Amino acid sequence: MENRVCRLLGCKYPVIEGGLAYVGNGLLAAAVSEAGGFGQVGSGGRTAEDFDRQIQLAIQHTNAPFGVNIPISEHRDPKDYFEVVKKHAASIRAVSLSAGNPRPLIGPLKEAGMIVMTLASTPEQARKAEAAGADLVICEGTEAGGHNGPAELTTMVLIPLVSDVVSIPIVAAGGIADGRTAAAAFCLGAEGVQMGTRFVATEECQAHNHYKRALVDARAEDSVVMERSLGHVTRVLRSPFVEQIWEQERQTPGDIETLLPMISGKRNAQAALEGDLDHGWLNCGQSTGFVQDVQPAGVVLRKVVQETASRLQEIDLRCRSWLQ
Ligand SMILES: Cc1cc2nc3c(=O)[nH]c(=O)nc-3n(C[C@H](O)[C@H](O)[C@H](O)COP(=O)(O)O)c2cc1C
Repeated sequence: MENRVCRLLGCKYPVIEGGLAYVGNGLLAAAVSEAGGFGQVGSGGRTAEDFDRQIQLAIQHTNAPFGVNIPISEHRDPKDYFEVVKKHAASIRAVSLSAGNPRPLIGPLKEAGMIVMTLASTPEQARKAEAAGADLVICEGTEAGGHNGPAELTTMVLIPLVSDVVSIPIVAAGGIADGRTAAAAFCLGAEGVQMGTRFVATEECQAHNHYKRALVDARAEDSVVMERSLGHVTRVLRSPFVEQIWEQERQTPGDIETLLPMISGKRNAQAALEGDLDHGWLNCGQSTGFVQDVQPAGVVLRKVVQETASRLQEIDLRCRSWLQ
């Protein structure tokens, strides 16, 4: 599996832990990197001080390279977070930039010696990221948990279309949680995969146990979209609370004032960290359908890698006769 993604990120396997708002903690990032993948400390939902603390935890728990995620527009003052990144520049291998315009930030981060990864949900975004100097593009299909692009392209369609227009390595995200889905991503043209939902249901993740159990119990069709009336696509776990949000969206479509108290990050934290699923909502991708247990992150990673390798080998063997 050694390829351009592994070389850029300094990891053994091209499997990345996505930025996870509120629940992407330092111990989880360290566990993923320690097992040969590429962990990321999330800044989404954290104060700059907590982000700093989580990076320090990752540094204490692994010598393997890891990265950080910055959802640009979700921070009132992204500058504070970049200061933290600068402070730890010697320990952070890569920064992923999402939720906003990454272009002005790519140059300064690269000058500070970091690999820059940007999120894209259309081929055009990926092309612009490459033109602006991104080292790698993470292409996220609409199956993914959390905020998705408004075009709602699926991973299946997005990855091959992006591979037609960029030459930097592509990492596929959205709907990937086992060897079958990861192998499919490689067949589509990706050189790596990023998983979010699957890594929430791990022992090291700071998510509340109610969240982890809910992912194990959920079916793929329990991953639903809210905030459509606001022009957003936010993929969450269906629950009576999310149904109340839908009802409010029907009554006052697009009215941010009325909706904000229900859809705010505070409500996400209430469910994700405190386990109060009656008064908060949870990010959740369709890949929840593959989540069957809560395991150490290293066990999850190794299983995905082994399954991917044997699935690709099987396909190779099966198709060889077609070429003769
Ligand atoms: C709980 C959760 C929180 C997320 N928070 C962020 C975030 O803060 N920044 C970001 O770039 N992506 C975020 N995402 C997206 C993931 O990084 C990843 O791309 C996505 O989960 C991949 O799809 P999957 O859910 O099918 O694995 C989040 C996803 C989940 C499930």
